[in-house]
Formats: sequence, structure tokens, C-alpha cells
Amino acid sequence: MTDYSIRSAQEAESAQIKALIHEVGINPTGLDWRRFLVAVDGLGRVIGCGQIKPHGSDILELASIAVSPEHRGQGIARRIIEQLLAENPRPLYLMCVEHNGAMYEKFGFRAIELEAMPRYFQRMKKLFDLSKLLHKTEEGLLVMMVE
Ligand SMILES: CC(C)(COP(=O)(O)OP(=O)(O)OC[C@H]1O[C@@H](n2cnc3c(N)ncnc32)[C@H](O)[C@@H]1OP(=O)(O)O)[C@@H](O)C(=O)NCCC(=O)NCCS
Repeated sequence: MTDYSIRSAQEAESAQIKALIHEVGINPTGLDWRRFLVAVDGLGRVIGCGQIKPHGSDILELASIAVSPEHRGQGIARRIIEQLLAENPRPLYLMCVEHNGAMYEKFGFRAIELEAMPRYFQRMKKLFDLSKLLHKTEEGLLVMMVE
């Protein structure tokens, strides 16, 4: 088991956060270190992260949940998600590929239909569906919400 702690990110960790997001291949935009919680190992390396990203003044997105491959399956993402949920108001939204939906259901998130999505997520969902069509990929995007 990895020895790690969870805390707010520091400015000096900005590059490590970006590198981790890049490594796991998720949305690389909007990675302001000030919003991040990080999991840090005994050597001070960022091995996990997550943030709450605002869209306008009233929409909040749980985003950038990532754990480095060699540290997965130990509950690190769970601790990051639980702390972000404990520290932030509702509703919270998120976007994920379908195979990750089951993980977020464990935290009370439920997939919502296009009509129930705030405009930002409607736009993202339509863009994703278009790109899915163009690239002939199978997996869809879920927009989920917890109240
Ligand atoms: C998804 C990811 C963050 C999980 O990190 P992790 O530290 O291994 O997750 P945890 O060990 O904390 O697992 C938390 C719970 O979710 C479950 N879980 C993890 N990944 C899951 C998945 N893809 N589908 C369903 N359940 C999943 C675990 O079984 C665990 O359940 P439990 O606590 O009830 O036993 C990690 O695999 C990752 O970085 N993936 C690539 C980036 C990514 O897809 N991020 C999500 C973007 S939406």
C-alpha cells in the first residue's frame, strides 16, 4: 500500500498536476492548481488529483479525477472525491466516459438527460456526440449530477 496524504495543491505542484492529467489522458483544460486537491506520496510526488471547476457563477463540476496507474485500486480516488464532495455545495455535475459511470454512482451521482443539463454540459455532450460520429467510436459521454 502506498503511504500518501491528501491536501490542497501548492503552486509548485502545477506542472505535476498537468503531467498526471496528460498521462491519464483526460480533459487538459482548466487546470488551475488553486482549485485542486492532490494525493502526495512520501517523497512529495503528486500521485492523484481532483478539482471542482466552476462554469459561470452557479455551475460546479467535479473534474480532473486522476490517479497514476501504479497507485490505483487503493482508494485514493475515493478519498479525493469524498473530500471534494464534503467541501462543496450541491448540485455538482461531472462528465465521464460511460465505463466510469459506475464509479461515480458509488458517490451518489446519477446520469442526466440532455434536457436536464445546464447549457455548458449540453454543448459539451453535443460536441462529444459529433466527434464520436466522426471518429466512429462506440463509447458515449455521460453527464452526471448529485444533489
Ligand atoms: C478512475 C480512477 C481515477 C480510479 O482511481 P483509483 O484510485 O484506482 O480508484 P479507487 O481505488 O479510489 O476506487 C474507488 C471506488 O471506485 C471503484 N472504481 C474505480 N474505478 C472504477 C471504474 N472504472 N468503474 C467502476 N468502479 C470503479 C473502485 O472499485 C472503488 O470502489 P469501492 O471503494 O466501493 O471498493 C483511475 O483509474 C484513473 O486515474 N483513471 C484514468 C483517468 C480517468 O478516467 N479519470 C476519471 C475521469 S472522469
